[in-house]
Amino acid sequence: MKRRILNIACIGAGYVGGPTMAVIADRCPHVSVTVIDLNEARVAAWNSEALPVYEPGLDEVIRRTRGRNLRFIPQREGAAAVAAADAVFISVNTPTKTQGPGAGKASDLGYVEACARYIAEHAQGHTIVIEKSTMPVRAADTIKRILATSPGVGTFDVLSNPEFLAEGTAIRDLEKPDRVLIGGETPAAVDALAEVYAHWVPDQAILRTGLWSAELSKLAANAFLAQRVSSINAISALCEVTGAQVEEVAKVLGTDTRIGPKFLKASVGYGGSCFKKDLLSLVYLCEFYGLTEPAAYWQSVQDLNEWQKRRFAQMAATHAKKHGGVVAVLGLAFKKNTNDFRESPAIDICNHLLAEGVRLRLQDERVDAKAFGEVLVDEYKAGFSFFREVTEAAQGADAILVLTEWDQYTKLDWRKLSTVAAAGVMIFDGRTVVDPVAAGAAGLPVFTVGIGAAK
Ligand code: NAD
Ligand code: UGA
Repeated sequence: MKRRILNIACIGAGYVGGPTMAVIADRCPHVSVTVIDLNEARVAAWNSEALPVYEPGLDEVIRRTRGRNLRFIPQREGAAAVAAADAVFISVNTPTKTQGPGAGKASDLGYVEACARYIAEHAQGHTIVIEKSTMPVRAADTIKRILATSPGVGTFDVLSNPEFLAEGTAIRDLEKPDRVLIGGETPAAVDALAEVYAHWVPDQAILRTGLWSAELSKLAANAFLAQRVSSINAISALCEVTGAQVEEVAKVLGTDTRIGPKFLKASVGYGGSCFKKDLLSLVYLCEFYGLTEPAAYWQSVQDLNEWQKRRFAQMAATHAKKHGGVVAVLGLAFKKNTNDFRESPAIDICNHLLAEGVRLRLQDERVDAKAFGEVLVDEYKAGFSFFREVTEAAQGADAILVLTEWDQYTKLDWRKLSTVAAAGVMIFDGRTVVDPVAAGAAGLPVFTVGIGAAK
């Protein structure tokens, strides 16, 4: 039987659920979309002018859709939306388990299971349940088992439709995705979801696979991306000691069409809410199936990332401690154009510097300073303060670290900074965004990741 999706509910109004549903509502004005979340403050923010997620272009999409065919509601009011839905997306967090079997590596499916129970309780008629969250392979089995306990007369299909958007470019990625992936066992359900995306995604970009391939492809895609960053970061360390320049090496690598130019930017390490948790989930899956060598291979990608953060922090700490022990940290977000600092390299680097007894002056144009302070180690809480302006953060600094590639750091007023920073200050550029010639001309020496100290 041909199915059509005209009513969508999405559980989870986070970085994925909010923007994804907003773009579906924008591109499919005939579809009614309701986003449900347990976190009432977040729902209120989605219904306000100060959206909880900062993404270029998101405000405009929300302005066009909210109150038309998109609404955000608290979970306690969500039962009717699930009952009316032809399709329910599950877009909740799948963090690393902190206890029980697999703790420290395996994905915690507790939030997903709670959603499946909620859907089982409230769904009516036939409902397509869609995994939008990133799941371990075969998670759909767990969802199906829970749905089978549904007390009602509802029937279900389960699809895997993982999301590939990157933060900071979410709207662009959603509007022009490289591909949309739909994994499922029932062609009618797969077709119904494909028909929604077909309103703006070309047919050849809608990939159809089995359920398990779709689930695993998402984990594998993030692992491959993380592996590229760790690979170039491993090369960056070798560049610094040999006189090679990582940007030149990356350019050469990228012109090989088999390798391609993207994701070859040396850095202080990758961050974000997903690479680490998804890699660890993959490591756990390999271990679970007795695949020791593949597990060790993927683990090494994460280990290299930890090492890169540590060695950068240590270089800066050593320099700062030879002087007055004050460090300005520019950039707390895990990448530019987002207010998200989950697993940001800045967290580990700041904790490392604080443990070395260094005092920190922190600055970021988007990150909420109070929330960032809360994730730093408790016993160091007296060791840091926040500033909105770069010039204020740089007051008396012996080292200035650039940890996020915000555009503003490419065009800083080096002369002004040299007048406020301490004598003997050194810039540690962890994102290759600082022009060492311009900074050097103002008397500020620069150490760049993958290049070393400017001569
Ligand atoms: P998030 O933490 O920003 O949002 C998750 C939301 O789900 C929260 O607002 C939370 O309150 C809500 N929630 C949790 N349990 C709930 C329940 N039972 N009922 C109602 N609401 C509930 O997470 P996110 O960044 O949007 O990520 C969601 C999923 O998407 C994860 O699996 C992640 O791996 C995946 N993903 C994330 C990104 C990204 O860029 N952040 C990209 C692709 C995939
Ligand atoms: C990543 C993937 O790119 C998305 O496809 C995926 O959907 C998402 O994870 C997810 O599953 O959550 P995201 O984490 O938002 O997206 O951002 P990326 O652009 O991938 O950057 C991740 C980290 O790697 C950042 O800290 C970034 O600065 C770093 N990075 C990236 C580098 O250090 N060098 C690079 O060349 C690229």
